[in-house]
Amino acid sequence: MASKLRAAVIGCGSMGVHHTRGYLDTGRFEIAAISDMNPEVLDEMDARFGVDENYRPDRFTDPNRMLDSQRFDVVSVCTWHREHAVWTIAAATRKPGIIISEKPMAEDLGRAEEMRTVCERNGVKLAVAHQRRFLPSYVLARQMIADGMIGDVELMYSSAGWGLPNWSSHHADMYRFLLQDECAWVMGAVTRTTDRMERGTRIEDGAMAVFQFKRGTRCVLLSDVTGEIYQGASIYGSEGMIDLLPERVRVLGRDSGGQWITHAPNGRFYNVDADNFEYVEGAAAQANELANWAEGKIDEYRGEARNGYKALEMIMAVYESARLHEHVSLPLKTKVNPLDVMVEQGHLPVVYPGAYDIRGFKLHGEETMYDRAGE
Ligand SMILES: NC(=O)c1ccc[n+]([C@@H]2O[C@H](COP(=O)([O-])OP(=O)(O)OC[C@H]3O[C@@H](n4cnc5c(N)ncnc54)[C@H](O)[C@@H]3O)[C@@H](O)[C@H]2O)c1
Repeated sequence: MASKLRAAVIGCGSMGVHHTRGYLDTGRFEIAAISDMNPEVLDEMDARFGVDENYRPDRFTDPNRMLDSQRFDVVSVCTWHREHAVWTIAAATRKPGIIISEKPMAEDLGRAEEMRTVCERNGVKLAVAHQRRFLPSYVLARQMIADGMIGDVELMYSSAGWGLPNWSSHHADMYRFLLQDECAWVMGAVTRTTDRMERGTRIEDGAMAVFQFKRGTRCVLLSDVTGEIYQGASIYGSEGMIDLLPERVRVLGRDSGGQWITHAPNGRFYNVDADNFEYVEGAAAQANELANWAEGKIDEYRGEARNGYKALEMIMAVYESARLHEHVSLPLKTKVNPLDVMVEQGHLPVVYPGAYDIRGFKLHGEETMYDRAGE
């Protein structure tokens, strides 16, 4: 039997669990080490996965000690946004084969660029976990578009929430993945009168944006505007329409005889009706392709960091457009988070003071990111 790839996980909350399950589902990894600053979270991991023969991790409350303990084939970074760069850079200096960071890639483009630079300098492959690229419905919709089933794609609409970097970085990645095209410019508007935060980063109360793609498609995004929050899109072409969700694709196309046709393809690892399908199938399929990348079976990995960077860039361009009151061409020159600049320079005053984090309920124990950051 071929030896297993050795995976390590930093941050074992909800996404650390999904990454771990994904590695185990492939049968190609052993979980060699896990780290979380909260030992209770490590106990929960053992209780959840302890029955699997490929789960035999060394446990650490300090990720640095874990990274020094052995060389890993893959390291997952599943902490909150502002610690993606911290732990990716720390891991890269220990030269694992691959690092996969959760999305959004970083808190701003400058930090995302540092992640890429340090990985490149240390010969480490870097990925960002926009796992819906691996869902069969997304792959099918992409193929339908490439095959011209709805003609030229003129408009894509999607509605998201809980802050642009959080959910809408997935939407930005989806637009690029489905269209196989690059965004040329972005026009955006944000509203922010409360001191709203998400996993330790500032977010807006609501946003809307237009993303103009080079071959002509326009993507329209509403975030925290309608109350309607979903992953997927309504896609309008010159000869038909596609309605995409993580579990299924409906198409009214050139060849569908005037009828909507629904496809709900099973994944490679899970059936489409499995609980949490988009996460369990996404994490397993993502891990499987990571194994191919680690073993040199593929040169191009679908979630390579270039894509995570571009998704983040499109989101930061919405903020930059709101800051500058003009449409913003990509690549974006501003490397800090323009939302922070607007707030700190008084252009987006908090009318109703009092910071609150919409993911505050996720904090375990007494020590919070704010305590550690001295905020
Ligand atoms: N890809 C997706 O669809 C998806 C979905 C949800 C969340 N996410 C992303 O995953 C990331 C994690 O989110 P989550 O919901 O899993 O968070 P979480 O709060 O459930 O888990 C984070 C874990 O990291 C640990 N941690 C934090 N700082 C640490 C440190 N310095 N050292 C050791 N451990 C530390 C915490 O104790 C916690 O257990 C976020 O950036 C989020 O945006 C992605």
